[in-house]
Amino acid sequence: MRKTKFILGMLMLITVNGMAEKKLSIASPDQQIQLNFLNTDNGSIQYQVNYKSRPVVTPSTLGFRFREPVMNLMNFDVMSVDSSVVNNSWEPVWGEQKTIVNNYRELKIALSDRSKDKIRMDLIFRVYNDGVVFRYEFPVQPNLMHFIIADEISQINMTGDHQAFWIPGDYDTNEYSYYNSALSKIDASGGTFAQEIHAKTFFDSNAVQTPLIMKSKEGIYINIHEAALSNYPAMNLILNKKTFGFQSHLVPDAVGNKAYLQTPAKTPWRTILFSDKASTLLSSRTILNCNEPSVIKDPSFIKPQKFVGVWWEMHVGVSSWDYSGGQVGSQQSTRVPHGANTANVKRYIDFAAKYGFSGILVEGWNTGWEDWFGKWKEDVFDFLTPYPDYNIKEINDYAKLKGVRIIMHHETSGSVTNYERYMDKAYELMKKYNMNSVKSGYVGKIIPRGEHHDGQWMVKHYERVARTTGENGIMVDMHEPVRPTGMHRTYPNWLACEAARGNEFNAWSTGNLPEHETILPFTRLMGGPMDYTPGIFKIKMSHYNKDKKEQVHTTLAKQLALYITIYSPLQMAADLPENYEAKPDAFQFIRDVAVDWDDTKILDAEPGDYIYIARKEKGKDNWFVGGITDENARTYTVDMSFADQNKKYIATIYKDATTAHWKDNPEAYTIEKFIVNSKTKMKLDMAPGGGFAISLIPATAEQIKTIKSYRNK
Ligand code: NOJ
Ligand code: CA
Repeated sequence: MRKTKFILGMLMLITVNGMAEKKLSIASPDQQIQLNFLNTDNGSIQYQVNYKSRPVVTPSTLGFRFREPVMNLMNFDVMSVDSSVVNNSWEPVWGEQKTIVNNYRELKIALSDRSKDKIRMDLIFRVYNDGVVFRYEFPVQPNLMHFIIADEISQINMTGDHQAFWIPGDYDTNEYSYYNSALSKIDASGGTFAQEIHAKTFFDSNAVQTPLIMKSKEGIYINIHEAALSNYPAMNLILNKKTFGFQSHLVPDAVGNKAYLQTPAKTPWRTILFSDKASTLLSSRTILNCNEPSVIKDPSFIKPQKFVGVWWEMHVGVSSWDYSGGQVGSQQSTRVPHGANTANVKRYIDFAAKYGFSGILVEGWNTGWEDWFGKWKEDVFDFLTPYPDYNIKEINDYAKLKGVRIIMHHETSGSVTNYERYMDKAYELMKKYNMNSVKSGYVGKIIPRGEHHDGQWMVKHYERVARTTGENGIMVDMHEPVRPTGMHRTYPNWLACEAARGNEFNAWSTGNLPEHETILPFTRLMGGPMDYTPGIFKIKMSHYNKDKKEQVHTTLAKQLALYITIYSPLQMAADLPENYEAKPDAFQFIRDVAVDWDDTKILDAEPGDYIYIARKEKGKDNWFVGGITDENARTYTVDMSFADQNKKYIATIYKDATTAHWKDNPEAYTIEKFIVNSKTKMKLDMAPGGGFAISLIPATAEQIKTIKSYRNK
């Protein structure tokens, strides 16, 4: 990466009180953000951030407590200061846009702690046009080599009682529903009642997880998260309700330590992104920019894709993972057929091949499901032995014949030592049968017992899986891992994660509120793509069993819009084949929609209310637009000025019928076609819990003649 030193005029080293107090300032490339660093008299180090000349982060202290060697690193002297500016760009293997600009100013402060050991620590700040990030580095030095972190003291202090969308702090799960409250009203203990989440670890009623989205009374949107989480535990935030200050709280290991490090060592970046426009946050690439470039030399095996699966039918209770037809871990007591049987899988293969899906996920193919859930037992699955009715060779030969591939499933049930033992053989088995994608899962409490999903041990495990699958030419999608932090830049074969409350919760729990999907892009998705599994057409579970009350909390049209508003290079068409074949016109959108993009325009967005996004398909002239609303009906006018000025497009609009409602009439939709151009302003009504999806494909001369043009209203 090319760095240019920038003129020291930007950087003021001011001695505030005689010789003792030192202040440094650095501004973003566009000058709108100013970061101030202060080294006080007593050696404490603090930073503070202004945006458009007003504070967004008030003075916040930084430091560490070490368990070994036992010491507090809270008082430092500034040894030297270095600054640079970076302005370059790079092309991701896949993503929301073809080219990503990386433009920031950096301040590197070499510090020496005031103890006799004079521990050396570097503090690095980067100021982007959309926020501030910082990390700590411990260089090789005489008095520190191996060390154990007891606590990282990173404060991020807010200016007031901001409104926030938050989930309870936890060491094991991020599958909570979002709460919306003022900071002063946060009470994370409510999470303990989430019966639908099996492995959860409450630790502090003032704790929340990142990515956290807040809005100040002045209308500033602020997102706190982290980037490049590697060899370190994930960070929760503990709120001080009197000062509205946050302090980092790292996920501990089985004996209460946070991280075991050896110099040279560095922490993840702490990211504070903000803007007076919500859309700026959704366009931010800062978290990706803070991650290391790809380690995969030949990424040609990595293919963004849409897939179907022998999957939703288990979640809705039509078939089972378990060979005996039992429904271990679900509410259903009656026996149902085993889903992953050869004939059924072939049916899905036919369906995928017919409609242009490249992958078929098959869950419940392997032995172990009869006893997989909630026992905290170590030897569960071997990831190698199919059930007797799953003919692995026949199935994969058939898939190959049809030009599609089976997506492997590795549910670990939290027994990660077991998975580590079998991993290499499991990937060999995949390669033997022509499989190059795997969905993994971490349901339940972790083994080694006492470790947590989000601790350093597991963070290293997820990265090991990403690296090892990459070395084997395999793409990976992880369920129940730590929340993503942009590491898919480094491992682009790590296509997606769940790591939040997915659509599946709608099948068997109180589900996701209609506003849920308008919050996700501002929270969970800030770190990376999500395997949300959209595309449910049969909205009410009473379709499968008249006694069921569960339902998806959206309209059908909104399920289509999610392919645009929830970014992922891996998108499932999650519903059953027969539900799609019953509505081929609406299914057409899922068949058409792209999963890799040259460009993305966030047209408008408000967390908890609505999201409108337009994306241009990679290497093509097609655009796709998605809009979603919360529980309120809304009207939005899509201004198509993003489109090519010299082209006419055929727009296919999938929207809520006038009578649609997520609860009362969720499957009512209408489809219209018009000729449009970049001057079109298309007015669209959304039902409560509804949305719209539009495909824009360059029109042929014939279509321009025969299809009517849209008239702006
Ligand atoms: C939870 C995952 O999120 C889901 O997709 C999967 O079907 C089950 N675990 C079983 O592995
Ligand atoms: Ca899950």
